[in-house]
Amino acid sequence: MATPLLELMDVTAGYGPVTVLDGLSLSIDQGEKLALIGRNGVGKTTTLATVMGLAQLQGGCIRFDGEDLSGLTTHQRAMRGLGLVPQTRDVFPSLTVEENLLAGLKHRSRAALSEAYDLFPRLAERRYNGGAQLSGGEQQMVAVARALLGQPRLLMLDEPLEGLAPLIRLELLRAFSRMVTERDLTLVIVEQQVREALQQTDRAVVLSRGRVVHDGPAQALQQDADALGRLVGVSHS
Ligand SMILES: Nc1ncnc2c1ncn2[C@@H]1O[C@H](COP(=O)(O)OP(=O)(O)O)[C@@H](O)[C@H]1O
Ligand SMILES: [Mg+2]
Repeated sequence: MATPLLELMDVTAGYGPVTVLDGLSLSIDQGEKLALIGRNGVGKTTTLATVMGLAQLQGGCIRFDGEDLSGLTTHQRAMRGLGLVPQTRDVFPSLTVEENLLAGLKHRSRAALSEAYDLFPRLAERRYNGGAQLSGGEQQMVAVARALLGQPRLLMLDEPLEGLAPLIRLELLRAFSRMVTERDLTLVIVEQQVREALQQTDRAVVLSRGRVVHDGPAQALQQDADALGRLVGVSHS
């Protein structure tokens, strides 16, 4: 069997004395497109933060491509190929779109920016606009494109659709699919827009109280209204 790309083994983690993740085990293979869902406060953001080294691992083990991540800084994890687009998006308001994207290049040449503009033509049109002038959807595009320019192998998106209109959500979801198909990318999407997220992913992992309570095909969960209601509180409508 091939080594999983990311493996969390019996992970306990949190912030200082607070424990949020409590015996979380999860294994993700290269090329998977996974939705990580669950009610508010179950530990989705903390899972992503722990993988990046932004929350404290208190027990268990996290491996990326076989390598134990404990002891590596967030920057070192990013250099290994882990990428996170936080819920806050973190677009610099006083910088232009292009300057925001340049910040994601790491050691690559400026020519790589064309990848971002190819994926999101809207950003090419707005390249000299300031970050503060962008709509929420455009800010999300900048945040995703900037992360991609660092050539992650595993990209984690924390509620990328939050607060966005349906059409722009669809545009983003299509771009996510394209990213996985055209690059050697593995994607983890945390979403409250559960139905939309399940439609665009292969696998659904549900968290409750800091551990995995469901792991299966996204499509099957999408069609199981009872399970959705029980696991994530999504109504039958
Ligand atoms: N920086 C922090 N310090 C202490 N507790 C936190 C911090 N961030 C989140 N928490 C707590 O951790 C729990 C899980 O939060 P989070 O991972 O953000 O959940 P989710 O993303 O699933 O909504 C919540 O009870 C939250 O209050
Ligand atoms: Mg969260």
